[in-house]
Amino acid sequence: MDFVALPKVELHAHLSGSISRECLHDIWLQKKARGETTLEDPLIEMPAGKFDYDLETFFPLFSKYIYELCNDLPSLIQTTNSVLSTFSSDGVAYLELRTTPRAIPSANITKDDYIQTILSCIAAANSSPASKMKTNLILSIDRRNNLPTAVEVVFLALKYRSQGVVAIDLCGDPAVGDVSIFAPAFKQAREANLPITIHFAESPASSTPEELWCLLEYMPQRIGHVINVPDDVKEEIVKRKLGLELCLSCNVHAKMITGTYGDHHFGWWRGKGCPIALSTDDVGVFGSSLSNEYRLIAEHFNLNRADICELARSAIDTIFGTEEDKQRLRGVMWK
Ligand code: IMP
Ligand code: ZN
Repeated sequence: MDFVALPKVELHAHLSGSISRECLHDIWLQKKARGETTLEDPLIEMPAGKFDYDLETFFPLFSKYIYELCNDLPSLIQTTNSVLSTFSSDGVAYLELRTTPRAIPSANITKDDYIQTILSCIAAANSSPASKMKTNLILSIDRRNNLPTAVEVVFLALKYRSQGVVAIDLCGDPAVGDVSIFAPAFKQAREANLPITIHFAESPASSTPEELWCLLEYMPQRIGHVINVPDDVKEEIVKRKLGLELCLSCNVHAKMITGTYGDHHFGWWRGKGCPIALSTDDVGVFGSSLSNEYRLIAEHFNLNRADICELARSAIDTIFGTEEDKQRLRGVMWK
């Protein structure tokens, strides 16, 4: 089966984690030539073939490296366009890209500028006659944020709703933060009918019953990872038929699960009635494209062509796009 040609839906991809090493290297070369960076070459910082980032080494990669390198408008535009074009070339028919609004004071970039720049790259890609991919944007709250910052993310998501922002996310280092402080931000989102997705039970530290029930009270339509889930919480997720964003390679490489591909909790969730969107999370870091994720699932869970098509289509029901987006996907995705 040609997994690249298979039209796919990608619902869990972080912009800064989806930038390829080649694209980062390109930006580094340009900055180096202009004497604008003292950073190490990305190909040395993140060598080709190195994918074994765990929860301890993964997060500093952004705060200490990628954000330092991609710190102006040209690099934001170049990386966003590169990420969009890579997903499109991989046969993604519908993409929900997520990012944490980031002000870059050194370049006079506000959070509004950051979002507007990404949205204009997305608008250009969406309207390109050559593209078969539609993209929407999700804005992330980082677990390390305080409440005013989280409320600002909701405000910005609502402000740019008519321009392609479709939801908010809660992400970030699962070892950090107390998620209960965000209750007023999620309440505002709910009251404005702004959809919610949440990184859920990613690590034992972020999987206490208190945290998981608190997150479920925020009423997310979708949850990501869903790894360390006690039985009563699983029951509730099944009852609500929440959309599940499952990221195979990321979980294996980062050792977030015990064992390997065939041991992934996809096996448990499959067939429980929750729509599943196989997703890449951070393809720039973990190196597995969405087509490769489908190939791995087919191989390790013995799925035939019909099973794979059904799995890919099951994600349609849980997108945050319009009814029109869903209709288009029902038309183009394989049966
Ligand atoms: P950005 O939001 O576009 O800057 O993408 C990078 C950010 O996404 C990181 O700083 C993390 O906060 C978040 N992120 C990426 N992957 C994960 C993950 O697997 N779990 C939680 N947060 C993540
Ligand atoms: Zn994620």
